[in-house]
Parts: sequence; structure tokens; C-alpha cells
Amino acid sequence: MTTDPLVVFTPSGKRGHFPVGTPILTAARQLGVDLDSVCGGRGICSKCQITPSYGEFPKHGVTVSENALSAWNAVEQRYDDKRGLKPGRRLGCQATVQGDVVIDVPPESQVHRQVVRKAAAARAITMDPATRLYFVVVEEPDMHSPTGDLERLERALQQQWQIDAVTADLSLMSKLQPVLRKGKWEVTVALHKGHKDSLARIVEIWPGLHEQGLYGLAIDLGSTTIAAHLTDLETGEVKASSGLMNPQIRFGEDLMSRVSYAMMNPGGDQEMTKAVHEAINDLTTSIAGEAGIDAALIVETVFVCNPVMHHLLLGLDPVELGQAPFALATSESMSLPAREMGLTTMNPRAQVYILPCIAGHVGADCAAVALSEEPGKSDDLVLIVDVGTNAEILLGNTHRVLACSSPTGPAFEGAQISSGQRAAPGAIERIEIDPVTKDPRFRVIGSDKWSDEDGFDIDIATTGITGICGSGIIEAVAEMRIAGLLDESGLIGSAAQTGTERCVPEGRTHAYLIHDASAEGGPRITVTQGDIRAIQLAKSALYAGARLLMDEMAVDKVDRVVLAGAFGAHISTKHAMVLGMIPDAPLDKVTSAGNAAGTGARIALCNIGSRAEIERVVREITKIETAIEPKFQDHFVAANAIPHKSDPFPELAQVVTLPAPSFNTGGADSEKSGRRRRRRS
Ligand code: FES
Repeated sequence: MTTDPLVVFTPSGKRGHFPVGTPILTAARQLGVDLDSVCGGRGICSKCQITPSYGEFPKHGVTVSENALSAWNAVEQRYDDKRGLKPGRRLGCQATVQGDVVIDVPPESQVHRQVVRKAAAARAITMDPATRLYFVVVEEPDMHSPTGDLERLERALQQQWQIDAVTADLSLMSKLQPVLRKGKWEVTVALHKGHKDSLARIVEIWPGLHEQGLYGLAIDLGSTTIAAHLTDLETGEVKASSGLMNPQIRFGEDLMSRVSYAMMNPGGDQEMTKAVHEAINDLTTSIAGEAGIDAALIVETVFVCNPVMHHLLLGLDPVELGQAPFALATSESMSLPAREMGLTTMNPRAQVYILPCIAGHVGADCAAVALSEEPGKSDDLVLIVDVGTNAEILLGNTHRVLACSSPTGPAFEGAQISSGQRAAPGAIERIEIDPVTKDPRFRVIGSDKWSDEDGFDIDIATTGITGICGSGIIEAVAEMRIAGLLDESGLIGSAAQTGTERCVPEGRTHAYLIHDASAEGGPRITVTQGDIRAIQLAKSALYAGARLLMDEMAVDKVDRVVLAGAFGAHISTKHAMVLGMIPDAPLDKVTSAGNAAGTGARIALCNIGSRAEIERVVREITKIETAIEPKFQDHFVAANAIPHKSDPFPELAQVVTLPAPSFNTGGADSEKSGRRRRRRS
């Protein structure tokens, strides 16, 4: 029986006996305990911090004495003097086993630490990125046994980190020699190894120990907006989130108009590719600046996007996506150098991963939602709608998952709305309309006060009130219906019909005035009849897509609904129901998941195993093509009313009393004009 001391690691519970003098880092490695190290035990990276516990541990069957570890040494003292170690912490590579001991590995010292998402249905992301840092000491050259610097670096990686072979491109080779000499043969390399790669690639090399971190971008490239999360690849922490409008909007508001632009203008696809590359390059620079890091430390980027954006990002002509059978150039995931794609402001050797597409109309963004929300692991039947310019819709459970995409247009993102804007400070995001006075109160992004509360004016002094964002317009339309300003067909009543002077004539129709600062040179914010129609088209497309999946699944009800999308977190369930955006579901079973596609991108960025997982899951998803399905049109027409006529929520009556279904005049006209718009679109 061994007399070597027992070492117990928590929280893993792994335990083993080790000879006196064994460094804790060595014990951890032999037991497969998740303890980080970049410097390979040289006492300079501080990644291996551990907390020994002393006293009685009946649970583990050990008593730990005060001298269970070697004494605090000079290396630890030097680190503590320079950077400071938290009380009770030791460096795992310096402290050695002297007696039975219980060692806690704090989360920040775990290589595969878990990062909990902020979203309601928290799913932890286990950190396991494709790019990691390794500190090595490289042998100096010797005339008597000549070898190249790269070969000696490879040997050091093999001996010190058991990494068998690496590859490096020419641009890295050109900095290899000066960096090795500057670092006096001690360097840190960033190695990238994709889940399908047999060789690791040297992405970057720094003299000495590199302590400025390593970063990645998770980018949700939408038709209307581009949203990016700058993520620390060691901790998973989001350092900055930023977004901008997709500049391709100038070539067409929606996907099909961009495909038409490419069809009708030779070189049009390349123009759009150039525009999006420039925007991503600018976004990379600005988000790095916002986080106060050097953009060259961004070594990885994950993209999620719909198929048209996917092709235009990659410089592929999207014309095939505009006509049946909607063939993709490739539906597989892509891993490629950022430079090859024209992304020039991140690290010159940064790697890009693009999630797989599901079908010609169902893109990598939908795959990202599936990765984030995992419908295939749900016991109950869940409907997930990711609301954007295109709605990505998934319906499924552990038996089967269906997916489709529905052309909602950009109205839900505040575009094509007369006073619309993207969600930014100054935008109205919440609104309530008093059913008696018909006056609105609202909240704008940048203040948590309502417009009729003290201090609101001070809060918004710098931003002003600039427009309405996506969640604001949804609430505005629903509130107008509840307050009797809008009838079931979507017609805005006149001042006489509604009893408020805020319903002002506008051409042959009416508009509802929310805020008027025109006397001071500010904006006049209204909801026009055109805005209502745009929202009706969008919500009908969303509803019809969801219904189509339910038809395929042969169900009339779903167990729960998850609203996702850039503003999914902000849509109130009540307003979504009044609008008739989604099929019937119990009220308490309608939840918001925030930007699920963006979260899926972050998961793929932080965890390499998730890339293989989503590639497998996507193959098992059944795709439904809305564009060629005749029932889509039937569902679309039925869904036009507010709320929809064919599938009204029974619960709605418990939440809100809706006024009379129509103003006596104009209902028929409005139906006709609605149909005319639909035909045009
Ligand atoms: S492993 Fe780097 S300080 Fe211990």
C-alpha cells in the first residue's frame, strides 16, 4: 500500500497519491484535472493558481496539516510583489506536495471554465477555443548541429507541450527570427487547431510571455444590422458588443432585392461583398478600440448569417439563391483565413469559421439558433422564432426538428418604418397608450424612466428622442389596437372615429402622433398607415412560417414559444399576442432568449466541440421551403388581421379587452390595399 500523500482536487473530486515534492501542477496533469498553464510551470504566467484547504475533511477522509504544501517560495513572492496573489492562493507549479492535501481549483484557473450566459434559460459555455497560447523556451542555434529556427520551435512545442507538428505561413516566418532573438529564445505562440485540422497553425508569436490576452469576434451578419461581440478567448468574457447597419442596404432593403441587384448589375455581387468587408473591417477596428485592445489580438472570428449574406460575405454570387431549387454553393461549414476573405483589420493570420447553412433559404444564423436553443434536446414541443429581416423558425423536440425561414422584411428592426431606427440611445423602445385619453407615454433607450416621470428630460438631454426601434414599433401598433386607434384590419381611425386629435390626416389615411418636437427643430414621430402595413406584412410572414412547420409536424398547438432576435429580449408577450405574431401557446410558456443567433456564434467561438456538434445537428434538421409551399400564402392572408382571426389566443381576453373589430368605414378598402401590397412584394 502506498504511503505517498493523497492529493484531492475540488471541484472535480479527482484524487491520487503522489511522492513528496511533486508540484501540484504535475499532479493535476497526471490526474487530468483542469488546471491552466501558459508558461509550462515556469512560474511566470500565474494561470495555475490554486487554493489549498487545511483542517479536517471527513468527506474526503483526510486531515490536512499546515505544512501539507512546500513553503511559499521566491517565485511566488516575486509574482505577489509584481501583480499580487489573492489571499490563500498559491502557484500550482511552485507549491509541491508534502502531505495529504485538498486543493481547490478556482474557476479562473480552469482551462475549460464554464461561462454562464446572461439569457434567462442559462446555458453554460465550456471554454475550449480553437486558438490557445503556449509559452516555450527554444534552443539556441548551434553551428555544429544546424537546424532552422522553426524546427527548434517545433521541437520545443513537442517537448514542452506534446504538440506534434505545426505549420506556419510565410508572413509568420518573416517575424519568427527577430521575435525569437528579441525574446532571448523565450516566446509565446498562439496556436490554432480547428476541429477538422490535423496540424496546428502558428497564428502569432510574441517575445517572452504574452500577457495581453487573445480575442475572438462572434459576428451575427444580418441583412439589416451587423452585430459583433468581442470575446476574451481565455475567459469567455464579452469585452465589448457593437453593431452597425449593413451597408448593403443601399443595394436593396431585403435579401431578394439584393439578389436582384446581383442579377441585373454585372459585378453587383462584388460591390456588395466589398461593402460588407469594409463594414466588418471598420467594426473590428471600432470594437477593439472600445475594449481598449489591439485589433491584432483578434485571432478568430465566427460568422452566422443567412444564405444570401453568407454568399456575399464569401464573395460568391448569390443568384442561384434567388430561384428554385435555391442551390447553395456549399452548405458545409467553412474554415478559412480571414485575409482570404478581405478582412484586414484583425490579426493578419486570424482564422474564420462560418457555421453550416441548413438550406437555400435557411442559413447559418438558423443553425446558430439551433446551437444556442437546442430544440432537439427539448422534451416538449418548442417553437423558436428568431425575429430579424428574415425570421428563422425552428419547431421541434427530441424526436424531430423542423426549420424554415420567412421573409418578414426589415420592419421588425425599425427599418422601412417612417420614424424607425435601429436600437440605439434615443430610440423609443417601450410605449403605452392610455385607452381613455389616448395619450402615449414611452421609454427611450438610454433612460429607465417613462416619459411622464420626473427626471426623464434630464436623462435624455444628450440623446434626445430620435425615432422608434423594432420593439417600440411592435408595442406601438399593439397599443394602438388596444386603445381603439386601430381596427382589426389594421386601419388607423380618424380623430372623429378615435376621439383623439393625435390621429392626424396624412394623405388619404391617418397617422398617430407620438411625439412632436418639430417646433424646436426636432423630429415629429408618428406611426403611419404605411408603418402598420409593414408590420402586418412582417407579422403575417412570421406567423405563416410558424404555421407551416406546425402543419408539417401535424400539430395545432405548441408547448412553448421562444422569441429570439436582436430585440427578442424586449418584446412583451402581451404585445406579441395582440399583434398575432406567433401561434397560440400558454402565456407563461412564451419566453425571450435575446439574440440567440449571436449566442450561437459565441458558443462556436468559445467551444470547438460545438462546431462538430452543430454540423451533425444541421444534417438531422428537416428543412421546409416557404417560398414554394402554397399553404404559406393561405396562412399569410389569414394572419393579416390584428390579432389574427384564425387562431386568436384564448388567453388574450384575460389580459386585455380589445375594442370593436372595425371602424365602420374603410375596413374593406384596407383589406384590398393590404392584398395589393402583398402582391407587389
Ligand atoms: S504554470 Fe505558469 S505560473 Fe505556474
